[in-house]
Amino acid sequence: MTFSGNFPQTRMRRLRTNPKLQDLVRETHLSVNDLVQPLFIREGKGEKKPIASMPGQFQLTVDHLVEEVKELSALGVRGVILFGIPETKDATGSSGSLDSGIIATAIRKIKQAAPDLLIISDICLCEYTDHGHCGVIAEHHHGYEIDNDATLKILAEQAVSHVRAGADIVAPSGMMDGMVQAIRKGLDQAGFITTPILSYAIKYCSSLYGPFREAAEGAPQFGDRRSYQMDPANGQEALREALLDLQEGADMLMVKPASIYLDVIYQIKEKFPGVPLGAYHVSGEFAMIKAAAQNGWLDEQKVTLEILTSIKRAGADFIITYFTKDVVRWLQQK
Ligand code: PBG
Ligand code: ZN
Repeated sequence: MTFSGNFPQTRMRRLRTNPKLQDLVRETHLSVNDLVQPLFIREGKGEKKPIASMPGQFQLTVDHLVEEVKELSALGVRGVILFGIPETKDATGSSGSLDSGIIATAIRKIKQAAPDLLIISDICLCEYTDHGHCGVIAEHHHGYEIDNDATLKILAEQAVSHVRAGADIVAPSGMMDGMVQAIRKGLDQAGFITTPILSYAIKYCSSLYGPFREAAEGAPQFGDRRSYQMDPANGQEALREALLDLQEGADMLMVKPASIYLDVIYQIKEKFPGVPLGAYHVSGEFAMIKAAAQNGWLDEQKVTLEILTSIKRAGADFIITYFTKDVVRWLQQK
């Protein structure tokens, strides 16, 4: 006998001897219930514009959006998160709060076409500002600054307008201090006391948002987002961000990006076990897998399922991913 464990011998491989046994003891299960599909909606008609750096993802006009949400709903997908590409942008992102704006219009259409889909509305200014920053700009003779407090009022207005149109959840993503509290107050004053806030509480200043900025046409025209998004080197700071947002009234938290921040996901879940936690598997994480798969260097399905399962294993309750439709189909084939 060569095995030198204690008697009775622990042999971990006993539980790996066949697929049924493996199914029985598996700890983490990825399911259709866990996935949220992001959608990019542009003004106009009859357009389904491919996003070059995100194969299989499109900017949709509202007519194509209707087909898309019907398909998602038929697949059993629970939720979508919306990003708008408005025709006109200005310094304060005012088109984000119009009842006739692109997202409010899209929300009403989705509610008609696929009433069972949960609609999460991303609340931020960068899609609507001509300068592409997530807040309004205060100019100084020595440069510029993002005016945190002036941005809060606009975020609250945007949230109210999207919820009035029918959004089920609002998800502020701009990393402004006090954004959750401002939005909670705005929603409550407008009578929307039951609408939950999913805060992008822990959003890193990541190099993995590049393809998204092409998709949403929301790249900053100058500077970067380092004065408001988190430094990728900081992990403990994530706990402060989470705590503050919970104190301000966040109902759910999110970590973004996902697969290279599993330590952060794990810590947040450990510290706040009762708080639903989302993770955003972002555009760059999607693009890397797609590029490798298109070259035949990685198996797209296996890699994707492994990574998304790992995000859940780390502690995420749900995942926003551009792979949603693919994953649902893959799971159905299994
Ligand atoms: C904007 C926003 C970004 C993403 C979601 N909301 C990009 C950014 O901060 O520049 C990124 C999503 C992705 O990369 O898939 N507030
Ligand atoms: Zn933004």
